[in-house]
Amino acid sequence: MKPVDVADYAANAETTLAPDVLGYLNGGSGAEWTLRANAAAWDRIRLRPRVLVDASACDTRAELLGSALAAPIGVAPMAYHRLVHPEGELATVRAAGAAGALFVSSIFASTDLAEIAAAATGPLWMQLYWLRDRDALLDLVTRAEQAGYRALVLTVDAPRVARRSRDLRSGFTLPPDVRAVNLSSELMAAAHVAEVGVSAIERHSRERFDPTITWSDLAWLRARTRLPLVLKGILTGTDAIQAIDHGTDAIVVSNHGGRQLDGVPPTADTLAEVVDAVAGRLPVLVDGGIRSGRDVLKAIALGASAVLVGRPVLWGLAHSGTPGAEHILRLLREELEEALILTGHPTLATLDRTALG
Ligand code: FNR
Ligand code: LAC
Repeated sequence: MKPVDVADYAANAETTLAPDVLGYLNGGSGAEWTLRANAAAWDRIRLRPRVLVDASACDTRAELLGSALAAPIGVAPMAYHRLVHPEGELATVRAAGAAGALFVSSIFASTDLAEIAAAATGPLWMQLYWLRDRDALLDLVTRAEQAGYRALVLTVDAPRVARRSRDLRSGFTLPPDVRAVNLSSELMAAAHVAEVGVSAIERHSRERFDPTITWSDLAWLRARTRLPLVLKGILTGTDAIQAIDHGTDAIVVSNHGGRQLDGVPPTADTLAEVVDAVAGRLPVLVDGGIRSGRDVLKAIALGASAVLVGRPVLWGLAHSGTPGAEHILRLLREELEEALILTGHPTLATLDRTALG
């Protein structure tokens, strides 16, 4: 049966992926409270429709940091797409291009960053973790610039990867043929060492991520790139203002899909605080638990400029490669269009909190 919504793709992934990969993909940190709360919080928000509004000219198109999108939707940075499909990031970046969505590559992409760029037909950003090895970090930034990536996304909620029970139980390790090929094999070696009761990626992060960085280090990165800098993992108005004060170009309200600090609020509940603090000074993106176009509408109505979507894209990839991932992104756009028409807010520009009830 052809999947018709995101839940169908989720169910397919449950039955087809290897248990350890499924645990890494679907799992969260701690007691997985934040993971569950993310999707539940979007669900809880009610819509408040207006009727007898001319809905003939519905338009989902958006612009983000100068790039045109078919809808305010992007693929969140996720490590190792080749864990779920042999074509990995090549399949997902093609899907994003075909659907008019933004694609954010992870620093831990399992495909060469220049090959990803060559397959991209839409805007492409590069996500970074701040590595202790600044030469390796800088080398990656330079290659991303040369390959045509249009922004850098520094993930700031992970001085180390958090404890994730599913990965600890499975002793999650990367198989030898799925590698973060944009970093040296020496730098990535620890991510491939199997040990019972240990998550290899958590151990690797302790060894290689720089836990000392603070706001003042951002200037170092800014001075070495001409690309816009996006901070991903902001959850408070206070940190959003810090981001503005440190010359950030955009922020992503994110709790890493419930994979980092468990117990933080779902992003649907914290978005308004951040949007209000930012007061239009920079674009605010949001991710975590977005599973339908109605959820996208809710995020935009709360003041987000765009959303990022994580696991659903990999569920689509796992199902059938490019067509599955593309279908996920098209579904979200089409559901957004339907929700705009049915709420009586046919354009994104007229959407505000009065659409929520
Ligand atoms: C992630 N995420 C992530 N974030 C990041 O900044 N760098 C990364 O390498 C990864 N890797 C990664 C792998 C996998 C398998 C998942 C599921 C997630 C987090 C991701 O960018 C995003 O914040 C969340 O996935 C959004 O939540 P949903 O849409 O998955 O609920
Ligand atoms: C994750 C890391 C790699 O969430 O960001 O799995």
